[in-house]
Amino acid sequence: MPKSVYIETYGCQMNEYDSEILKGILAKTNNYSIIDTPDGADFILLNTCSVRDNAEVTIWNRLTQLKQYKKKKKNLQVGIIGCMAERMRDEIFEKSDLVKMVIGPDEYRRVPEILENSLAGEIGIAVRLSRVETYEDIEPLRTKGLSAWLAIMRGCNHFCTYCIVPYTRGRERSRSVQSILDEISKLQDSGFRELTLLGQNVNSYFDETQKIDFPNLLRKVAKQAPEMRIRYVTSHPLDMSDDLIYSMAEFDNICNYIHLPFQSGSNRILDLMNRGYTSEHYLGRIQKIKENLTDYALSSDIITGFPDETEQDHQDTIELMKAVQLDGAFMFKYSPRKGTKAYKLADNVPEDIKKRRLNEIITLQNSISKSRNQLEIGKSLEVLVEKPSKKKATEWMGKTKSNKVVIFDNLENQFKEGDLVHTKIIRSNSATLFGEIVK
Ligand code: 5AD
Ligand code: SF4
Repeated sequence: MPKSVYIETYGCQMNEYDSEILKGILAKTNNYSIIDTPDGADFILLNTCSVRDNAEVTIWNRLTQLKQYKKKKKNLQVGIIGCMAERMRDEIFEKSDLVKMVIGPDEYRRVPEILENSLAGEIGIAVRLSRVETYEDIEPLRTKGLSAWLAIMRGCNHFCTYCIVPYTRGRERSRSVQSILDEISKLQDSGFRELTLLGQNVNSYFDETQKIDFPNLLRKVAKQAPEMRIRYVTSHPLDMSDDLIYSMAEFDNICNYIHLPFQSGSNRILDLMNRGYTSEHYLGRIQKIKENLTDYALSSDIITGFPDETEQDHQDTIELMKAVQLDGAFMFKYSPRKGTKAYKLADNVPEDIKKRRLNEIITLQNSISKSRNQLEIGKSLEVLVEKPSKKKATEWMGKTKSNKVVIFDNLENQFKEGDLVHTKIIRSNSATLFGEIVK
């Protein structure tokens, strides 16, 4: 009888993808079945995030909840995998007597053996980081649907001073162009319509043997899969080359949505963050995007309350937000991470000021998103149909190439998942566009 494994995923898209990789590894052994509820599971694995403290708090709370499953099933084994496993290592065993396995992001090949041994009462710890592991030979066990993720590179060499990722995911490494194209062929055969190329910093992608960089990989992918929408995350403003922007302009199926985190608008803070660019450089990249792409959308990550951030620095962020006019943004309060360079600086922006600054940028971004979406009114946009909207069964939602949600009537169910429809945008708010089907 195969043993059942339940994997719960927290954090970024890379973690979602890694869970699919791990499911692929487990499925290959024929000794494990993957289930999608913790009830009755032989193993529960939490794939974790360490990027901010609150991500880890969520996991500790979840572990407390999971005790009830252990009460019901004495031989249940619980493991922590992913970034938190890598960051905290055996400290996790000290903090939780429920956890018997701790496995970092480069050690997923060892999971079958570690699960097996845990049944014999062995504590499992595997947290070695690799300079070469890309899992390129592993076929992820994906959930059927429209969208697939595919990691083209792993790790990060940037060492932004606030960020734990270089320590939890190790150095940059890319998988071969051929392995990527082969996997995409399979995705095409399985009917996936949207592909997101993943990496902590996709712009650093490089196939050493074939000497192919990210823009040229993107061209190959777009050429091979004209029926698929191609997306990618995440880019670093320093490595956002002109050629990448040109490659996006060359292919209709490369989506004109760019997530380009600037983190702060203050050059002084950007320097303290070791970001390696100025707000002027960032604006230059945006200008280049504007000149080359139509109907594009931009988003960013912004951190507020970094050590020593003054009111003037905060205003600089506000000015940059106004100048760039992002379509959306992910905004966070700075969270000190032990082991990073910034951890040595005093976390000296008081909590109430961090909160106030965060609220200010969220309010500003909402109004910018609203006005950006107003500019879509009257346009005819192609939408990839996804599913019924949350509010009404006769209203469906889909996304534009620029990654915006469009709601439209599907009264007689004439449209189904995966259809491409053209909608004329008639109304919008800060989060959503509303469209009419154009015959
Ligand atoms: N505190 C707050 N936000 C952080 N991020 C990364 N590290 C931290 C931290 N220590 C944010 C950055 C990054 C996003 C994924 O998470 O904005 O782009
Ligand atoms: Fe972290 Fe900076 Fe690397 Fe992004 S580029 S993963 S923020 S170190």
